[in-house]
Amino acid sequence: MGIGILHKYKDYISLEGAVPISMGEGDTPLVYSDYLSKETGASVYLKIEGCNPSGSFKDRGMVVAVCKALQKNKKVLVCASTGNTSASASAYAAKFGLNSAIIIPSGNIAKGKLAQAMAFGAKIVAIDGSFDDALNIVRKLEGETDIEIVNSINPYRIEGQKTAAFEIIDSIGEIDYLCIPVGNAGNISAYWKGFKEYSSVKSFKPPSMLGFQAEGSAPIVKGEIVDKPETIATAIRIGNPASWKNAELALEESSGSIHSVTDDEIIKSYVNLARKDGIYCEPASAAGVAGLIKLSKKIDFNEKKITCVVTGNGLKDPSTSEKFASTNIYQSSPELSEVLEAINKKD
Ligand code: F0G
Repeated sequence: MGIGILHKYKDYISLEGAVPISMGEGDTPLVYSDYLSKETGASVYLKIEGCNPSGSFKDRGMVVAVCKALQKNKKVLVCASTGNTSASASAYAAKFGLNSAIIIPSGNIAKGKLAQAMAFGAKIVAIDGSFDDALNIVRKLEGETDIEIVNSINPYRIEGQKTAAFEIIDSIGEIDYLCIPVGNAGNISAYWKGFKEYSSVKSFKPPSMLGFQAEGSAPIVKGEIVDKPETIATAIRIGNPASWKNAELALEESSGSIHSVTDDEIIKSYVNLARKDGIYCEPASAAGVAGLIKLSKKIDFNEKKITCVVTGNGLKDPSTSEKFASTNIYQSSPELSEVLEAINKKD
């Protein structure tokens, strides 16, 4: 049974008297990829963050933010979200007796994420605008007494998310590179914080951070805000990341770099993760893998040790799956001969 990150890593997260809570987050699989290792010449591991309780890495940060919200006697968790933060916030709200309100860009949330928030009983506000517009509104709620903002501008979110870096080191030791999708840039900042802090305890050299944004939503790569961000990977459809500065610091301090990947490259890796690694993730989660493949044409990764963060579960976005990763369905009578015929049919 997962004990949760607040128990497992209690010596590394300062709760200042708050009572630790848990939904069993963290302790996610780190799986060796034969396919990607062969493609790149490196030893490539996939950190499967879709195995967290609400199906994404957000739970690692949410558990800390909610633990502190309870200590402060807050009543409502509020976030702007491209879907996963809202699913996570509303799950923790449900379990720990709080209300949740989520502000989302209308029409740009994957179906499964919205269904989760509804199931958990969230108040859903869909705005006619982007994630960046939603976050701007949320920032203005800062002074409301009962409200706790649980976006990654809440520093406790980063404290929790850094534990994924600890788990990688605890599991496979030092790595050379971390490949990670970048949206609001909280997660890349959190991993770097985690690697840095843990490196002084466990004495290892922290990896270079390789961040990847979708081409139509690549403000950090371009060095300017993107007013109308576009990409099929709705989770990272963000034009003005809140943790932009921290991400740049992480890249600089780790001798890393940030790059863009096209929607086609993302989808190709998304399908390959499913077909060659048996991992069903959402499109944004494949951006790190797409980036690794792209960079391996330019950088020699031979004999390096690399982890790609696969951030969220594929079940959250069934529409993209139907469109790009479906197979035929053969209708059959319940007769052995007909079923056998279907099994042996060439597609
Ligand atoms: N992958 C997935 C599946 C995400 O949901 C997100 C962000 C990211 C990657 C990027 O992480 O923002 O820390 O750079 N989702 C946020 C949300 C924005 O609202 O759920 P980041």
